[in-house]
Amino acid sequence: MRASVTTGAFIFASVLAATSLFIHADSNTSVSEQDVSKVLAVSNDVAYGEYLAGECASCHATTAVSGSNVPVIQGASSEHIAQALLEYRNGIRDNSTMRNVVSALGDEEIAALAHYFAQQTK
Ligand code: HEC
Repeated sequence: MRASVTTGAFIFASVLAATSLFIHADSNTSVSEQDVSKVLAVSNDVAYGEYLAGECASCHATTAVSGSNVPVIQGASSEHIAQALLEYRNGIRDNSTMRNVVSALGDEEIAALAHYFAQQTK
């Protein structure tokens, strides 16, 4: 009996921990400007962003491809890009492709990518 109570408490604590890691945002409807600025301040390493962006190029071309649903992100503001990536990571934006992409990205990676893409011209 005692063992199962302990196990139950452990599972409950694990679920809580996972939930707090997953929900970074202040609300479930958008990521606040404040959260975006905090993440952008984590890294300004454009070279790291360029390195990471190798993974994005297969889908995000520098010019719009007709019939494609992939937006051009080169030249968008770093705030716009970071906010979008955080919203995919938090599940606020529901797109399975981008959710898979961002599941591997920490705040540092998101910041570096956002600064890199913001410097690119369309
Ligand atoms: C397998 C294809 C694919 C890859 C790889 C990919 N993306 Fe995307 N991306 C998409 C698609 C499709 C959308 C549109 C999703 C939607 O409708 O929400 C998108 C949307 C976005 C948006 C939102 C743009 C906007 O204005 O709303 C950003 C930012 C973005 N991707 C950044 C990245 C970054 C950074 C990488 C690399 C780390 C990456 N993507 C890799 C397919 C991809």
